[in-house]
Amino acid sequence: MNNEQGPVAVITGAASGIGRGLAEQAAQQGMRLVLADVDAQGLQALCAQLQGQGAAVVACVTDVADASQVERLRDVALARFGGVDLLFNNAGVMQTGYSWEITGRQWQRMLDINLLGVINGVRIFVPLLLEQGRPGHVINTASLAGFLSSPLMAPYNVTKQAVVALSETLHYELAMLGAPIGVSLICPGPVASEIMASNQAGDEAGQSFGALLDSSIRQGMTPQALAREVFAAIAEKRFWVLPHKDFKPALEQRVRSILDETNPQFQMFDLPGDAHAAR
Ligand SMILES: NC(=O)c1ccc[n+]([C@@H]2O[C@H](COP(=O)([O-])OP(=O)(O)OC[C@H]3O[C@@H](n4cnc5c(N)ncnc54)[C@H](O)[C@@H]3O)[C@@H](O)[C@H]2O)c1
Repeated sequence: MNNEQGPVAVITGAASGIGRGLAEQAAQQGMRLVLADVDAQGLQALCAQLQGQGAAVVACVTDVADASQVERLRDVALARFGGVDLLFNNAGVMQTGYSWEITGRQWQRMLDINLLGVINGVRIFVPLLLEQGRPGHVINTASLAGFLSSPLMAPYNVTKQAVVALSETLHYELAMLGAPIGVSLICPGPVASEIMASNQAGDEAGQSFGALLDSSIRQGMTPQALAREVFAAIAEKRFWVLPHKDFKPALEQRVRSILDETNPQFQMFDLPGDAHAAR
């Protein structure tokens, strides 16, 4: 990494929650920051806070679902800092509800932000990282939902499992090339954030499951604690970042059910209302 003036980190979804924690931790480590979000006000407030602490920061209002805006983000990073060392593809949103009740528009929004947003980051930044010919790192935010499919959040499960697949593939490809670029995949359980504010209205079961998720997320680990784990993993060049260890029995049970070809059983949460009947 370019240590002369601190590595350059680009972070999407930086204005809130996990992205904000990552930005604060990166600033503490003396990194130069390019912060992206659709929330212009939140972005400005964070920039002012970090600049007040002496960090070199540029804000770029960016919708990760729009490739031309992600290209502009890359160009802003190049114009301001001359290169990029770390890319955090972190922006994401939630949608709850029965798979068949979620509207086509809601499905498309989830695919566009949670999946295409990460694909755009990879497509637009990895060629730059390769061209630079110096060490770099791509960090994608998936979720425990990247391994375990909860009922009533199909688009989230689908997009996060795709982000796991994309990240593992990218890791293999960069290793094949012998490129000095690492990949890390953040797969947390509940982290205190505002993500449930992005959950759009839908069916009753989806709304009551949303309320359950909201309360679990509000009691989750802090973004600051997660960010410390993430930066430790980057320093170790570690791919998997799984801060919530209590999910491991559920994952083992899932792998066992695949290997034994027994039907999957969901065990992670108490499901609301009529969703119990579907279990
Ligand atoms: N909070 C959790 O419990 C949890 C657990 C696992 C994974 N995650 C993942 O962490 C990531 C960050 O979410 P969070 O929990 O911090 O939520 P958050 O809502 O607090 O922060 C997400 C940020 O992304 C921004 N954003 C939304 N759509 C965007 C777009 N199209 N382009 C750019 N920015 C956009 C929002 O404005 C917001 O500032 C997401 O990918 C989420 O799926 C969260």
